[in-house]
Amino acid sequence: MSELKNLKPGEARCPDHPSTKELVSRDCTGAPDAILEESYEFIGDADIPFERYISKDFAQEENNKMWSKVWQWACHVDHIPEVGDYYVYDVADLSAVIVRSNNNEIKAYYNSCLHRGTQLKPSGTSGVCKELKCPFHGWTWSLSGKLEYLPCDWDFPHVDKEEYNLPELKCDTWGGFVFINFDQNANPLNDYLGVLPEHFKNWNLEDRYIETHVTKKLPCNWKAAAEAFLEAYHVLETHSEGVYTAGDANADYDIFGDHVSRFIHTIGYTSPHIVENRPSQQEILDILLGRKLDDNSGTVKVPEGSTAREVYARIVQEEMGEKYKSDFSHLTVTETIDSIEYFVFPNAFFFPGLQLPMVYRFRPDGVDHAIFDLLFLRPKVEGEDHPLPPEPHYLDIDDSYTLCEGTGYLGAVYDQDTNNLLSQTRGFKASPKGAQTLGNYQESRARHLHQIVDKYINQTKN
Ligand code: FES
Ligand SMILES: [Fe+2]
Repeated sequence: MSELKNLKPGEARCPDHPSTKELVSRDCTGAPDAILEESYEFIGDADIPFERYISKDFAQEENNKMWSKVWQWACHVDHIPEVGDYYVYDVADLSAVIVRSNNNEIKAYYNSCLHRGTQLKPSGTSGVCKELKCPFHGWTWSLSGKLEYLPCDWDFPHVDKEEYNLPELKCDTWGGFVFINFDQNANPLNDYLGVLPEHFKNWNLEDRYIETHVTKKLPCNWKAAAEAFLEAYHVLETHSEGVYTAGDANADYDIFGDHVSRFIHTIGYTSPHIVENRPSQQEILDILLGRKLDDNSGTVKVPEGSTAREVYARIVQEEMGEKYKSDFSHLTVTETIDSIEYFVFPNAFFFPGLQLPMVYRFRPDGVDHAIFDLLFLRPKVEGEDHPLPPEPHYLDIDDSYTLCEGTGYLGAVYDQDTNNLLSQTRGFKASPKGAQTLGNYQESRARHLHQIVDKYINQTKN
């Protein structure tokens, strides 16, 4: 403990255990440079007021100054594969309609008629159309945004059709996802994404399709929802069954600029919280395989000099290779099995791993409710058509993820995560302290999220 006392804030790490980067370097496959890149600095330790989660005024500030300024993924290119396909994306008070205007072009429009404001397409819908016709009086725009029909145009001599193009939002794609920005002056998406394109350059997110999509309503502010997935500190208590195979307290956290942060926690390393009777490599493998194969546990041996992680990764590569008709043997152990999670401010999460290939998105739904989209991506088979995205499986606040088959064994894990959120929100309101106290390292990404929210809110521009 005396050694720890000499460290500056933020310098302490889980004692007596290798960090995740040390662990993945020891794998027989090594690890990609992106995974080994380190980027952490101490960003403060002041308490963060609960007001930020429950105040209507604060939420309004976020709506006005943050949601209207940030890049956010609205849909996937596979949601709008054909000309005329559209998808409505809503966030806070904002709404956009994203349209495939021709084979090579996607456009995003403010979802509001230039006549009397009606939404051109209802919230939460998607479909196909030949043009964008307002359902109120029928003003009609082409897919490329030109005003083509104005009923009784004799009554509108003051409307020059040439000047009544639908206002466009900034729109771009990355990794197969369509991103939009409601700010006309926004910097390009590629700048916003920071290290993400470089880190993902060999992970080919665009070569994956959406296999599962679950949309759940959560009883908490959107930030509390996102933060529940920004740290592995909660694994010990919330996912206690996972401690024999999850490196939680020795997980790595990195912050790359304003908009990207990351954690990596290992699968196949026993939690540092387990001090006595730590399982052997063979026992770890048995647990991992027991979860995966049920009746087959114990039949695969960890060879001398190898680890449970290495053997498990090879099994996952073979099984998934068979299932998705691909060869994954080039992947390192960490890319195959670990929980590698990139967060893109304010609300998107991308997991490049093979076994844990999730994408998340959290949006506000009023002050203390949020909408959580959970996707599982799978590799496309070369030369074959891939499935189009399934209709989202909608879950209400009290519905279990286990109702959705596509989530597999992770359904119960997502239930554990989301079951904390109502109590946390109630606790925010009941707290005499009125603020949260975060860990300097393990919860740095949550603090960073708040700091970037403030950066947008305090911007003087516009
Ligand atoms: S409000 Fe759209 S046509 Fe009238
Ligand atoms: Fe969790």
